[in-house]
Amino acid sequence: TFYQPTNNGEASNRETEDIYAKMDWDKLGFDVIPTDYMYIMKSNEQDGTFSNGALVPFGTIDINPHSAVLNYGQGLFEGMKAYRTTDGEVQIFRPEENALRMRMGAERLLMPSPSVEQYVEAVKQVVRANKRWVPPHGKGALYLRPLLFGSGSVMGISPAPQCTFLIYTNPISNIYKGRTESLSLLIDNKLPRAYPGGTGGVKNIGNYAPVFQVVKEAKAKGFSDVLFLDAVEHKYIEEVSSCNAFIVKGKVISTSPTLGTILPGITRKTIIELASDLGYQVKERKISVKELLRANEVFCTGTAVGISDVGSVTYKNKCIKFKTGPDTVTQKLYDLITGIHAGLLEDKK
Ligand code: COI
Repeated sequence: TFYQPTNNGEASNRETEDIYAKMDWDKLGFDVIPTDYMYIMKSNEQDGTFSNGALVPFGTIDINPHSAVLNYGQGLFEGMKAYRTTDGEVQIFRPEENALRMRMGAERLLMPSPSVEQYVEAVKQVVRANKRWVPPHGKGALYLRPLLFGSGSVMGISPAPQCTFLIYTNPISNIYKGRTESLSLLIDNKLPRAYPGGTGGVKNIGNYAPVFQVVKEAKAKGFSDVLFLDAVEHKYIEEVSSCNAFIVKGKVISTSPTLGTILPGITRKTIIELASDLGYQVKERKISVKELLRANEVFCTGTAVGISDVGSVTYKNKCIKFKTGPDTVTQKLYDLITGIHAGLLEDKK
C-alpha cells in the first residue's frame, strides 16, 4: 500500500508530494492514493441547474448530518479511466457514455445532474490537473470517480434540495490485485445482487455494501469473487459484484440483458461492439447457470477489471473449468480493447 489515510482521510499538499516522490508504478494495485486536485460543482436549489464548478485541492469535504446521502442513500458514482498512450499522451475512454449513465441514475434517484457537456468538461479539467498521476503506459490508469449525491439537508424521506457533483482521481492497476491466475468465481445463491424494480441497473451507491458480506465469505474460501443469480428464479446469471459477465460458446458470445438488474457497463457495450466487428454473434439474453457451465470461455468486463478471463466457476460444490490463455476469444478482445486504451487502435465509436 502506498498510502495509509490519516484519521480524517485528508491529504495535505506536502503528503501528495511525498507520495508522488515514492511512487513505484510497478507496485500499483487498487489502493487509496490521493492526487492533487478534485472537481466540485453544486446544483442550484431553485432550478436544479449546475454551475460554478471548480477544481480544488484534493481533501475532505464538509457534509451535513442531515444530508440525503447520509440518511437515505441518495447517491451515485461512476468509474472511468484516463490512460497514458504509447506516445505519452493521455486519453480518456468514452466520457460521454458515463455522463449519460449518470444522468439515467440521477433520474432514478430524483437528483438533478450535470449536462453531458458539463460532465465531460469537468472530467477533462480534473485529468489535466492530475496529469502527473496518470501511470506510465502499461502500468495502469488514472481512475476517475465522479460522484453525485444529495448533499442538501432533509429530515423526512425526500430528495435533497441540493446535490453535489464531485470528481476525484486515483491511480490504479488491477482491482484483483496480486492475481496471477484467471478469476475463480463462486455462484452463491444466498443473496441476489439486484431485484426487479430495484436499482441494479444504475450506479447507485447502495448496490455495493449489501454484497460485502457474501463476497468476503467467498474470498475467505479462496474465490476471487461472487457471480450472482437472478432474484426471482435463482436460475439465470446476472453480474459479478463489480462487473458484467460474458460467456463464449463457439461463435456465439452472450451476456445478460440490461433489463433493470444488470448495470449497462461501458466496457460491456464496447466489448459487444468489438466482438460483433470480429464476426461473432453477440446475444444479450438471459443465460441459465446450466448454459454457463457448458460454455467454452467465460470473462468479465468493467472499468475497474477491464476484461478478465474466468478460469473456473463453482456451483453447488462443483468446480467447472473454462479455457483461458493466449488462444482464446477473451484474449482477442482483451488485445483489441487494450489497444484502444493505449492509443494503438482507433475507437470506432
Ligand atoms: C468500476 O468498474 O469502475 C466500478 O465502478 C466497479 C467498482 C465497484 C470497483
